[in-house]
Amino acid sequence: MRLDKYLADSSECTRSEVKNLIKKGQVTVNRNIIKDPGYIVDEENDICTLGGNVIEYHKYHYIMLNKPDGYVCSSDEKGQHSILELIDEPYRDRLFPIGRLDKDTTGLVVLTDDGPLCHKLLAPKKHVDKEYEIISKEPVTDEMIEKFSEGVDIGDEKKTMPSLLKITADEYHSNIILHEGRYHQIKRMFEACGNLVLKLNRIRMKNLLLDPKLKQGEYRALTQYETEGLKND
Ligand code: URA
Repeated sequence: MRLDKYLADSSECTRSEVKNLIKKGQVTVNRNIIKDPGYIVDEENDICTLGGNVIEYHKYHYIMLNKPDGYVCSSDEKGQHSILELIDEPYRDRLFPIGRLDKDTTGLVVLTDDGPLCHKLLAPKKHVDKEYEIISKEPVTDEMIEKFSEGVDIGDEKKTMPSLLKITADEYHSNIILHEGRYHQIKRMFEACGNLVLKLNRIRMKNLLLDPKLKQGEYRALTQYETEGLKND
C-alpha cells in the first residue's frame, strides 16, 4: 500500500497533510526517512513513524456515538441534521452507521467504514441483540410483557420475533431486548398494544454498551476489545 494512504488511514491527518509531512522528512519506514508519498509499505511488517511516533495500521475506523434527538442517521435527507455533522474526523465522509435510529431516538450508534462488518451485523439471520430504554405514555402491563415474549402483530407479513420487555423504575419505564430491526419496530409494537413510546434510548448493540461518560452528541473511538467483541461470533 502507498505510504500516504497508510498514514492517512491510520492517523488523524488527511492525505494531503500526510504528503506534506512525508516531503518534510517527518516520516520513517524501518528507521529510514522516506520522502516519497508513493513509497510502498508492507502494512503487516514495516514499522512507520510520523513525527517520531510509531503508527499502528488501522484499515477501518470504529466510532461509538451517543446520538441526540433531532438528528437523522442518513446523510442525504435534505434540510435534516445528520449524525455525521457531529463527527469531526478527516475520514468522516467514509463512515456509515451500523443500523439506523429514528430521528427522535437517542443513544448508541456505531459508525464505521468497515463494510463487511456492517453487513455481517445487519444480516437478518444474525439476530444481533439490541437493547433500549423506553418511557411510555401508558403503563407497561403484564399482558404487554407476555405479548412481546410471543411476538407482536405489527401489520407486517410476519409477527415480530419474541422480545424481552421488562419494567424498570416504574410501569412507565421499561427496557426491551430486540433480536431484529424492523422500521419503527418498538414504536409499532407499543402502538399494537394501545400504548405509545414517548422516549427511546438505545444502550446496547450485541455486547457493546453505550459508554455512560458520553454525553448526547459526543463520540469516541471503540477500543480494540470492543471492536473485537463486535466482530466475534
Ligand atoms: N424501534 C423504533 O421504533 N425506533 C428506533 O429508532 C429503534 C427501534
